[in-house]
Amino acid sequence: MTAIETIRWVGDLEGRLELIDQTLLPTEFRMIECRDVGTVHEAIKTLRVRGAPAIGIAAAYGVCLGVQPLVNGDEGRFFARLEEVVGHLAGSRPTAVNLFWALERMKRAAAACRGRKSPREIAGALLAEAIAIHEEDRRICRAIGRQGAELLSDGQGVLTHCNAGGLATADYGTALAVVFAAVERGKRIHVYADETRPLLQGARLTTWELQQRGIPVTLICDSMAAQVMREGRVQATITGADRIAANGDTANKIGTYGVALAAAAHKIPFYIAAPQSSFDLALPTGEGIPIEQRDPREITHGFGCQTAPNGIDVYNPAFDVTPAGLITALICEKGVIRPVSKERIAEVLLSDR
Ligand code: MRU
Repeated sequence: MTAIETIRWVGDLEGRLELIDQTLLPTEFRMIECRDVGTVHEAIKTLRVRGAPAIGIAAAYGVCLGVQPLVNGDEGRFFARLEEVVGHLAGSRPTAVNLFWALERMKRAAAACRGRKSPREIAGALLAEAIAIHEEDRRICRAIGRQGAELLSDGQGVLTHCNAGGLATADYGTALAVVFAAVERGKRIHVYADETRPLLQGARLTTWELQQRGIPVTLICDSMAAQVMREGRVQATITGADRIAANGDTANKIGTYGVALAAAAHKIPFYIAAPQSSFDLALPTGEGIPIEQRDPREITHGFGCQTAPNGIDVYNPAFDVTPAGLITALICEKGVIRPVSKERIAEVLLSDR
């Protein structure tokens, strides 16, 4: 199965970043060009590019764009600009740890050259690092698919929430990679996609991706998930992650916690598929995960239509945290982590496989 090219770098050191503008899908497919770091910051903040791995990759290229004007300057000014650019991108969205992980890698790549190479050469090393992050994610998606495919059986209904597919990564996703890999192995899978209020990543993006690939998919409102489970339509649930704490507590799109609770009540396995870069082992539990609060207008004026009275009080957290105890297994490129415990996570992530 081929991947959607969600993110691409065009050209060399003086090149540009191109992204699918995901705010326009599914009715319009348009690539946008980013020629400066401000455009990348805006694209991340407004969810033109979204999904934890894709945010990290876009930010890495954003760093390359940010230092472009200083490649012929002196080292001091180059590194001051690098700090500024990294700080700016780090302020775009708080929850997906992949953003900070990618920015940290970029800083380390530049630091390794300090005092030994010219700003132009350091910019070259930064671009090489961004390309490496991008390429690695492609391989990781495939590995997650391989690791998870055996968890799904022929003929199953699988419920997913938000979009953890090709649009959220460099290849064919994390949660959807598991579905795609199962289908590649000849299993017939029917996906139930939660629409994912308020920004409808499930309705707009997941259904679009699955339709493109000819995988049967049924769209449901978020509030229908428990009923769909009770009716026996789904035998597994699987989502992606924005940040996984050392004990397995997992932040993902708002509504994921409710799906996990409903799955537990119906004795349906609840899986999370995510790359190692989504784990934040510095946080002992999910308590410490910063949860992004978004504009109330996403709820009151979604997609240009006012649906609540003027002046209404709104609470709009973009993510929730599912406790490790509700997660049947975590699927990462290194393997299936089960049971979901601090010890087992450390054992799999720190292994050399
Ligand atoms: O707000 P979004 O659309 O960036 O939220 C995305 C999610 O919650 C995804 O499930 C998560 O980032 C994993 S993507 C492989």
